[in-house]
Amino acid sequence: MSSPAQRPPIAVIGAGYVGLVTAAGFAELGSEVWCVDIDAERIARLRAGEVPIHEPGLEPLLAKNAQRLHFSTQLADALEFARLLFVAVGTPPTHSGDADLTAVNEVVDAMPTSERHALVMKSTVPCGTGATIQRSFSERGKTAIAYVSCPEFLKEGVAVKDFFNPDRVVVGDSGTWAGAAVVELYAPLRAPIVRTDVASAEMIKLAANAFLATKISFINEIANVCEETGADVTEVARGVGLDERIGPKFLHAGIGFGGSCFGKDVSALKLLAANSGYHFQLLNAVIEVNELQKRRVITKLLKNLDDGLAGKRVALLGLAFKPNTDDMRGASSIVLAGRLLAEGADVRAYDPVAEAAARELMPNLSYCDSALDAANDADAVILVTEWPEFIELDWERMAGAMRGRLVIDGRNALDPGVVLAAGLSYEGIGRGRPAEASEPRRDAGAPASGAAS
Ligand code: UDX
Ligand code: UDX
Repeated sequence: MSSPAQRPPIAVIGAGYVGLVTAAGFAELGSEVWCVDIDAERIARLRAGEVPIHEPGLEPLLAKNAQRLHFSTQLADALEFARLLFVAVGTPPTHSGDADLTAVNEVVDAMPTSERHALVMKSTVPCGTGATIQRSFSERGKTAIAYVSCPEFLKEGVAVKDFFNPDRVVVGDSGTWAGAAVVELYAPLRAPIVRTDVASAEMIKLAANAFLATKISFINEIANVCEETGADVTEVARGVGLDERIGPKFLHAGIGFGGSCFGKDVSALKLLAANSGYHFQLLNAVIEVNELQKRRVITKLLKNLDDGLAGKRVALLGLAFKPNTDDMRGASSIVLAGRLLAEGADVRAYDPVAEAAARELMPNLSYCDSALDAANDADAVILVTEWPEFIELDWERMAGAMRGRLVIDGRNALDPGVVLAAGLSYEGIGRGRPAEASEPRRDAGAPASGAAS
């Protein structure tokens, strides 16, 4: 294993969630890192020591390794100093649901014809992309460029921890110097290395995300059956998850998975299969269940509140697709808020860090400074993202601020007993039948007296 002094310089193209964490991680392991992004404003902020995304632990890691990190908009800078070029540009979904490879192809087109360099793909791309890129290289006389598929598995919100503690590192290539160099680069992390071919490496990434999404949609469907049968999905998940063939992780029922990856990768895999003549039925259901799950809260509201949602005030606690990130991509809150507004409800929302990103997507919401502020005169409070501060909330005070008494726990993150003790009613996702508060609350018509300011 090479010492930090001998660590090879690398380049990371795309300074997004994956690119920045990868750059900071390898700098921490001792490499000089050139981080390139076409977004000049993002690069200027990074050069000024600002971090354009909310990712716990990333800022101190970037600051600690500032000597070894270089930010630029110029790919040429990276090519001059680094041989391994990690590509982490966005591959968002197209309207049809395929992965949009425009950014990837722009990077590929900009590759020089030198055998000094290797392209190491971190962006999630459809299976077969590596082969297509290598074919395009040979058609353009760039045969010497090595290609490695090295998919990323880090989760937002814990990405820095995930970088340094990978369950495995997948390195797909045709046995070139570059594959060996990437294995060497990750050696200090002492993780299992899956050295395989490019197509299998690409499929490992898609299959892993699709399986995790399937697991979530499965437990969400179990939750929906629990609601009809009086069982508690959290108990069911506990009992099922102890089976080592299943495992407890990703068995948390809720209001659907979000994020930039699961939805995108499930639909990309489904379409990849269809384009190859295979009908991947299971994935259809995974997507459908997830979209319905995001809307189940509306049914719960209509069941518990009289006279529909028009004019009702509903508070949303959390907007980001998960805690500890400011990322709104694929967030369940977007669908939920949209449905509530369409039903004529007055939606007040609070999120500790994702407000700026949410405002761009949902300008019509009322954004609040705290959970208590959002709950002010609310007929119902919905926990959408399980930020730790919501689990610590003083539900007596929340009850005092609210006009109604309904709390819907969209992530089964709250203690029902605490909510009930505050005189509120509690409804989770698949946690048996809703539990009522002990005595009736102030009716909707009465003026909001004594509400917290
Ligand atoms: C990316 C991929 O989108 C995803 O498929 C993969 O699984 C992980 O890496 P993420 O880091 O979340 O995901 O993307 P994003 O935060 O959107 O960052 C992409 C960055 O690439 C942006 O900063 C963008 O400015 C930059 N970019 C995009 C380039 O530098 N060049 C381009 O041509 C396009
Ligand atoms: C995911 C993959 O986990 C990661 O390996 C890959 O690299 C990128 O995509 P990420 O999208 O950042 O990571 O978040 P993740 O923690 O997987 O959560 C995704 C969504 O699933 C969130 O909305 C989360 O709330 C939801 N989820 C997760 C559940 O609803 N139940 C669970 O048990 C776990």
